[in-house]
Amino acid sequence: MDAHEVRQAFVDLLVERGHVLITRSPLVLRDDPTTLFTGSGMQPLLPYLLGADHPDGTRLCDVQPCLRAQDMDDVGDNRHTTFFEMLGNWSLGDYSKAEQIPLVWHFLTDVVGLEPDRIYVSAFIGDPERGIPRDDESAAIWKRLFIEKGISSDSIDLGTEEHGNEVGNGGARIAFYGHKNWWSRAGGPDAMPVGDPGGPDSEIFYHFPQVEHDTRFGRFPHQNSDGGQYLEIGNSVFMMFRRTEDGFAELPRHNVDFGGGLERIAAASVDSPDVYRISLLRPTVERLEELSGKSYEDATVAMRVVTDHLRAATFLAADGVRPGNHAQGYVMRRLVRRAVRFALDLGLTEGVAQHIVPTVARTYAGVYPEVAENEAAIIAVLQKEEKAFARTMRKGLRLLRKLGAGGAVVGGAGLFELHDTFGMPIELSVEEAARLDLVLDPGWRAEYDALLEQQQARSRASQR
Ligand code: ALA
Repeated sequence: MDAHEVRQAFVDLLVERGHVLITRSPLVLRDDPTTLFTGSGMQPLLPYLLGADHPDGTRLCDVQPCLRAQDMDDVGDNRHTTFFEMLGNWSLGDYSKAEQIPLVWHFLTDVVGLEPDRIYVSAFIGDPERGIPRDDESAAIWKRLFIEKGISSDSIDLGTEEHGNEVGNGGARIAFYGHKNWWSRAGGPDAMPVGDPGGPDSEIFYHFPQVEHDTRFGRFPHQNSDGGQYLEIGNSVFMMFRRTEDGFAELPRHNVDFGGGLERIAAASVDSPDVYRISLLRPTVERLEELSGKSYEDATVAMRVVTDHLRAATFLAADGVRPGNHAQGYVMRRLVRRAVRFALDLGLTEGVAQHIVPTVARTYAGVYPEVAENEAAIIAVLQKEEKAFARTMRKGLRLLRKLGAGGAVVGGAGLFELHDTFGMPIELSVEEAARLDLVLDPGWRAEYDALLEQQQARSRASQR
């Protein structure tokens, strides 16, 4: 199946199983100041997960475009994208594990056609201190499903990722972890603000035996290793707890919050560990090959970064975000400027949004027509940002090289000048310095922040 088929098949199956398809939310939630972007399908559903009645009932599904700015620096590997679509289904106190796990198994194996014996899973090991039990129930359901297909169903306790990296999973189908198998929008149980819902989860991974395990990420492979063999493709959260002042209380209803990564399921479906080869991303990569005369194989990282960042910026522009110096605008600015920087590695110095936005618009025409409808306006927004940066970026890069020449230590003042004079987002300067093996002064951040603060105070004073 290609990605469009996977998306449609998911919705068809869930609707057939009594779920109401709900409208997607924008990438920037209008009435949720706690988060910059919609980073998962559950965010817009928060009140209902906490107990309010949803007008469409207790079984819901959707396809939610998400943006995870925190993954920007990981883009360039074969699996990370900042923008992605999450296939979601929810049971608001309706069904639980016994229905959810077989449902997603059926979708992945019978509908999408993934090979059952390449699917591996994880479950929550328990947290006795907080009185949260080990999730043997999920493991038993998985075990039954694996046995039915005649494949191995052994389990292993790994606890932490670090321990997993040391010992590997020994090929065990089901691995138990601690905080890795706890989901809330803030992260692990300790990170949750009082009042937030969360719970144990059971993640699903696809195994790519053809990939050699990268030992930089640990001695042995296991479900949660970044070594390249296992790709997380979905996650069922059993959202049944609410954080309180002194621990956890059970929610009035036990919910299920499932999220499947469309791009990753589509990659598994075509047996590619590289998500940039799927039908949603490949056309942009091919366009970049045409424009640059280089091949994806020779310029992999740069093409991935430009492809991901301009797709994300296109969707942000379609949702009304504009590049700027704060909040969502700053993330969008970083995306476009980082794309400009990596396009330079492809020999593309003129800005590529005008060529890429139409490709993105065509790719998504059937599902997100708003991109094609606003194509000219989106190009104008991105081009303006590209031009503003392209004019100064090369001078900025030259200055950075000069600052660090001969092993000289680069301090906060130099990094501030790069930002102030040449528009280099600080994250990009730091990344570039690492690429060039430059030495940064350990105190650069404090110096940079102080200079930035002084500049902002001056500009506030002048506006009065
Ligand atoms: N909300 C869950 C996640 O983002 C499904 O993984």
